[in-house]
Amino acid sequence: MNTKGKILVTGGTGYIGSHTTVELINQGYEVLIIDNLSNSEAFIIDRIEQITGIRPKFYEFDLLDQSRLSSFFEENPDLKGIIHFAAAKAVGESVDIPLHYYRNNLVTMINLLEGMKQHKIENFVFSSSCTVYGQPDKLPVNEHAPIKPAESPYGYTKQVNENILKDTIGSGAAIKGIALRYFNPIGAHDSGLIGELPRGVPNNLMPFITQTAYGIREQLRVFGDDYNTPDGSCIRDYIHVVDLAKAHIVAIERLIQHNNKNNFEVFNIGTGNGFSVLEVIHSFEKTTGIKLNYKIVGRRAGDIEQIWADTTIGNQELGWKAERSIDEMSLSAWKWEQNYRNTKQ
Ligand code: UD1
Repeated sequence: MNTKGKILVTGGTGYIGSHTTVELINQGYEVLIIDNLSNSEAFIIDRIEQITGIRPKFYEFDLLDQSRLSSFFEENPDLKGIIHFAAAKAVGESVDIPLHYYRNNLVTMINLLEGMKQHKIENFVFSSSCTVYGQPDKLPVNEHAPIKPAESPYGYTKQVNENILKDTIGSGAAIKGIALRYFNPIGAHDSGLIGELPRGVPNNLMPFITQTAYGIREQLRVFGDDYNTPDGSCIRDYIHVVDLAKAHIVAIERLIQHNNKNNFEVFNIGTGNGFSVLEVIHSFEKTTGIKLNYKIVGRRAGDIEQIWADTTIGNQELGWKAERSIDEMSLSAWKWEQNYRNTKQ
């Protein structure tokens, strides 16, 4: 196969990983996926093939398995880069089982970086989060804002993994890395064939909205309307997952083409616009014509009041900009929810 080269996507059957795989294939890369299917489904590989016409090579194993990972690297000595998504990501769960989060999220990162050093793989893109900023003192928040004490073990693993990457690069390893700090990814691929697939009751807003609209959940709860925001509900920077996926292609190519300014770089990946929970609900209702059954309840522990990105540095350096509107996010998430439920075996 004549491609631009091989990219390893860890967690490639997950929400952001699957969308990024599609964009990489569309751009002419050969994608290899490692995933242990702990929070995703194998049929996503079929869907990626349906969308792109190309089936990514799938390796089902756990990145904690160092000897399996080592043989993977030996089988694929020609990797151009790694985009690392595989991680546990439920904030509440991380408070209940912190050791699982620390082992799973930190040790897998260490295993990958050791493998990269050993097998001379140079380029690494890490899936970080705006959660590292906590509640910023200044909005919009840029990449120079201070890192705040983490609210959860999950959030702490993002901070520590950024440091692990930075320190490894700083120690002289021949590795270049970019940490992308995502704001709130929502929405789904235009085809409706892949999207967010939470197991059990969703924690995040958009899957809860679409499941309520579909009738799986009786009522959506809005966590608080007494925040110091225009309508009293929390504000986030929601970004379409396809825009987010495209940022990864730009980031890995920046490294492959030696366009990076430092060997470790950090970029915010958001739209630069804040929307309140109630505005998201109204966008969903307007675009789909469905009335959502929701009620205002008390605040959720650990939620910050408001955050949105200053995207100036990312836009300039990466030459990338989020393009899709909140309405497109709502509509695509709804298309995916219906398509998934209607085609589910
Ligand atoms: C959360 C995590 C963030 C993580 C991201 C991963 C916290 C503080 N942050 O982001 O670190 O990277 O998930 O997906 O937990 N909401 C409702 N009703 C619901 C669900 C959510 O009103 O049923 C509200 C929340 O209060 C919040 C907004 O919707 O204001 C977005 O919530 P969510 O989708 O869970 O994302 P974050 O909490 O911002």
